[in-house]
Amino acid sequence: MQTQTLSVSRGSQFATDVCAGLSKPGQKELPSKYLYDEVGSALFEVICALPEYGLTRAEERLLQQHAREIVDQLPRPVVVAELGSGTGRKTRLLLEALSRWQSTWYHPIEISPTALAVCRRELRDINSISIVGFEREYLDGLREVAARRVNSEHLLVLFLGSTLGNFDGSAGAEFLSELRQILQAGDSLLLGTDLRKPLDVLVPAYDDALGVTAAFNRNLLARVNSELGGDFNLSQFAHQAVFNPRTHSIEMHLRSRISQTVNIAEAGLAFRFGEDETIWTESSHKYSREELYQLAQLTGFRCQSQWIDSEWSFAENLWIAE
Ligand SMILES: C[S@@+](CC[C@H](N)C(=O)[O-])C[C@H]1O[C@@H](n2cnc3c(N)ncnc32)[C@H](O)[C@@H]1O
Repeated sequence: MQTQTLSVSRGSQFATDVCAGLSKPGQKELPSKYLYDEVGSALFEVICALPEYGLTRAEERLLQQHAREIVDQLPRPVVVAELGSGTGRKTRLLLEALSRWQSTWYHPIEISPTALAVCRRELRDINSISIVGFEREYLDGLREVAARRVNSEHLLVLFLGSTLGNFDGSAGAEFLSELRQILQAGDSLLLGTDLRKPLDVLVPAYDDALGVTAAFNRNLLARVNSELGGDFNLSQFAHQAVFNPRTHSIEMHLRSRISQTVNIAEAGLAFRFGEDETIWTESSHKYSREELYQLAQLTGFRCQSQWIDSEWSFAENLWIAE
């Protein structure tokens, strides 16, 4: 079937965002979207297979059990757009269920060219599915997909893997409201969300025994070194996963083991780190079921169905734009 990718360049934005994040007074930070270069995307795939990271297997089980039921609730014809598709492994279950009753356009929207290329390669064998990928930020890509649809077509937006949880605080709700503005009433959003669970299960999911998540986190510094001429000494930054009870989020940080200065040649800037000072690199919010119902209402959706995994507390939510 047909596959294609549309891409744009975003090199200097990386330098701007890194410098802004490391210059922040108080907590230094780096945007989590930069975790996914070629190495980062490959490491994320390994994380998904780790015994501690039950999240991906939970969502895969839910889609295995309910993909047909999900697609049977959708209006037809439907065009599928996926935000942050990664390799699209779980999406295969939905696309195969859809291909039973219609030819379908599938638009993965990805910031990582590596993940996008794998996604297109992995899914291209599915009958009746045509793939046009967008190497874009989530909503930029979705606007392009929405602009291409013809009148009678409905949109199904997939946002799997609890990636919404990477938005901090009220940013998640703001993002969903913006997303809703791009949709028409009756369009659907399939949202995968990780639920609250005991800390002895949650924390190891972000700090595994093999150290893969630590490597995924530190790779962000390696990326600054290779793409922006940074001189981060990776062994002098420790991976940390801490639960923030106020925000119900797991936060990943990189903690400076010593007092040190890091130079970034591309920016012509030097950044001071005190001993134990951290760079905040990612948040993963954990939801309650009630919070999800409220979030749907607040952002212009109605929760049509929700499926919960019985082994790992994870919810797949089918929302309809009102
Ligand atoms: C947590 S992974 C989830 C991947 C996949 N959906 C899954 O469930 O396994 C997040 C994915 O979103 C992509 N991503 C992160 N920020 C993005 C952004 N601002 N715009 C588009 N894609 C983004 C990453 O490259 C990564 O593949």
